[in-house]
Amino acid sequence: MAGLFGRKKIEKREVDLNNLPQHIGFIMDGNGRWAKKRGLPRSAGHKAGAESLKKIITEANNMGVKYATVYAFSTENWSRPKEEVDYLMGLLMDYLVNAEKTLAGENVVIRAIGSRKELSEEMQRQIIKTENFTKNNTGIIMNIAVNYGGREELVNAARQIAEKVKNGEKNIEDITAEDIGNGLYTANQPDVDLLIRTSGEMRLSNFMLWQVSYAEMWFTDKLWPDFKPADLRKAIIDFQNRGRRFGGI
Ligand code: IPE
Ligand code: IPE
Ligand code: MG
Repeated sequence: MAGLFGRKKIEKREVDLNNLPQHIGFIMDGNGRWAKKRGLPRSAGHKAGAESLKKIITEANNMGVKYATVYAFSTENWSRPKEEVDYLMGLLMDYLVNAEKTLAGENVVIRAIGSRKELSEEMQRQIIKTENFTKNNTGIIMNIAVNYGGREELVNAARQIAEKVKNGEKNIEDITAEDIGNGLYTANQPDVDLLIRTSGEMRLSNFMLWQVSYAEMWFTDKLWPDFKPADLRKAIIDFQNRGRRFGGI
């Protein structure tokens, strides 16, 4: 039928490695439901989710994606039962410790984004250690968002700019979008161009409010522990088949 109206749009079915999203954001959701479906405690879902994450980052890195930000713990997640919060923090700690052996071996640069001062001192030390250990790697830059909230990040950026105005380093009229970008945890990184959320929820949940302003959104009903490298490829292929106009025509 499409032939009647001219050339049929050719849909790509393979990832075009020359047209990858530069920065992929992952809202890794659905661990709890994955466990519930199996009659397991929520912690089992989080454990399976951490395994999923390793495979996805390895895949993204092998393809040549430059940046990935993964939402591991939001500023709102403190409202969960203490037992679950403790389990999640324990998993993150294991992840950071093991990353030095596994992901770092794959050349991944690991960074944490979010407010650190509410984390345990042990966690703060481990974050610095893992960041230093991986900082000279040349593969994908993986931002782990922990105690991260998009609003907190913007408030933090506003404070930094206000400080400059107070010190006479900046005039109010000269404040630009770039100044705000430079005050974010992701300063010097490209904006997110593909945002993936699993588990069927279609909301941002306070994730990277500034950086996703022109991101392509991709949602799947699959729960995070079921999200496989093939699903990531599918999301990227869909991304590559979309027309991005950025307000133009
Ligand atoms: C995502 O899975 C992981 C975190 C938020 C830490 P959830 O724990 O939110 O799982 P559901 O949404 O309850 O299924
Ligand atoms: C978002 O998931 C946070 C992370 C994935 C870490 P939530 O499960 O906390 O989000 P809501 O509560 O469904 O919005
Ligand atoms: Mg959830």
